[in-house]
Amino acid sequence: MKSKKNILCIGAGYVGGPSMAMIAYKCPDYRITVVDINSDRIDAWNSEELPIYEPGLDKIVKKTRGRNLFFKKDIENQIKENDIIFVSVHTPTKTYGAGADMAADLQYWEKTARQILKYSRSSKIVIEKSTLPVKTALAMEKILSSAKGKFRFEVLSNPEFMAEGTAISDLENPDRVLIGSHQTKSGLKARAELIKIYSRWILKEKIITSNIWSSELSKLVANAFLAQRVSSINSISALCEKTDADISEVAEAVGMDSRIGNKFLKAGIGFGGSCFKKDILNLVYLCRYYGLKEVASYWENVVKINEYQQERFVANILNGMFGTLAGKKICILGFAFKADTGDTRESPAIYISQKLLAEHAELIISDPKALKNAAADLSGIKGKVKYIEDPYEAASGCHALLILTDWDLYMNLDFRKIYKTMVKPAFIFDGRNIIDHKKCFSIGFNVYPIGKPALSHFKI
Ligand code: NAD
Ligand code: UGA
Repeated sequence: MKSKKNILCIGAGYVGGPSMAMIAYKCPDYRITVVDINSDRIDAWNSEELPIYEPGLDKIVKKTRGRNLFFKKDIENQIKENDIIFVSVHTPTKTYGAGADMAADLQYWEKTARQILKYSRSSKIVIEKSTLPVKTALAMEKILSSAKGKFRFEVLSNPEFMAEGTAISDLENPDRVLIGSHQTKSGLKARAELIKIYSRWILKEKIITSNIWSSELSKLVANAFLAQRVSSINSISALCEKTDADISEVAEAVGMDSRIGNKFLKAGIGFGGSCFKKDILNLVYLCRYYGLKEVASYWENVVKINEYQQERFVANILNGMFGTLAGKKICILGFAFKADTGDTRESPAIYISQKLLAEHAELIISDPKALKNAAADLSGIKGKVKYIEDPYEAASGCHALLILTDWDLYMNLDFRKIYKTMVKPAFIFDGRNIIDHKKCFSIGFNVYPIGKPALSHFKI
């Protein structure tokens, strides 16, 4: 089939790969090419073992790869040959200089803009898919228009709202697609091009438009609101532990108010992932930059409560296990930042593992998809760590089990069988509240959930 349009995506990561696979799947007459400076990543996208684990992704890539989806390394040529360019490079928190530990590091974005400018031989639509501070498009436009008079670059903002673990269903059936553009003739024309692509499979009512700045800001705010809900429920879990209230019951009662809603009210060990913390810190930085210090500190507290929740979890382990972990074997079930992904970026498991190792505990880490990343995250940290995929083998001979990721697999474990192989008294610290606590208590475990009374066999 002859391609109607050629689309390029720069950045073949967690967003670039799945989002372009979905466009290729839904628009067989468009030819989509994805490029990356990381050539190992491109090799992996072209192999049988994709670089990221995402339910349903394999199937879509198999259907489209080599048909109208291509993963390539020749960035310069691809810029020349494509007129619609998505940019989904990473925008991590800056670790140096002005704005260190707060602002977004825009060096990858800026390099990409300069590459686009350098290799373009025709006018292009450049679409921000990465999450960026409000007004980034302006900086991009300044770079792209620095070669006066040659070609026109129309910048659109089209933030991605998919979550890892559910990326394919989120991309296939999103709550909304947001497109920000200039309200000029050429801005609206570019916007119409993008709407044409999404309307192949997404209802027109779900494709919303705005000015570029609202679109950029909406993405940061959406993540901040989601993270804020997690911090809100986690803050209340601390109060539940002091008052014999049960956080699941409170969340259910509160969430049934349709004005509040029941999503993102699961208490746990705090949010992880590459985006929530980064995007809130970016928001905080922007507010400070604009002199809004009260607004900045309001949002900064969402991150502080998240850190507090992880500290509290470690303190509960230490207190529950008689104030010392030295020489004790602790089995960590789940290292990914959430279920159904192998991604461990900003996973609470990293902080918790580091703290336990500092207490001289020995760790046995288990996860169905994230062991390679876990080993990279903990490399160079002093202490004894083993990585064992099978949860039964991992738990054998341990003093305690910590559940750190909400994998379904852990809900259905045979805890009686596990209990028999553990050192007594045996402990479970359920950082996700996913197992049957009463049952585990009746088996003999001392059980410490989040935001619920502990079930302990000790009389004092
Ligand atoms: P990622 O690190 O997985 O992927 C980014 C890729 O860009 C990397 O493979 C990197 O090598 C490549 N890259 C960097 N500079 C490049 C250049 N000049 N040329 C070519 N390739 C280059 O990041 P990600 O998780 O996909 O996130 C990308 C953006 O999307 C971020 O801004 C993030 O905030 C946002 N986002 C992420 C998610 C998510 O679930 N991960 C969801 C929504 C939005
Ligand atoms: C989040 C947003 O949900 C996406 O809309 C957004 O596109 C994405 O960030 C992004 O910009 O990167 P993601 O981080 O992949 O997606 O996953 P979430 O489902 O939001 O979970 C984030 C963290 O919060 C996880 O650690 C999860 O375990 C935790 N969480 C979530 C809770 O502790 N409780 C909840 O009720 C929900």
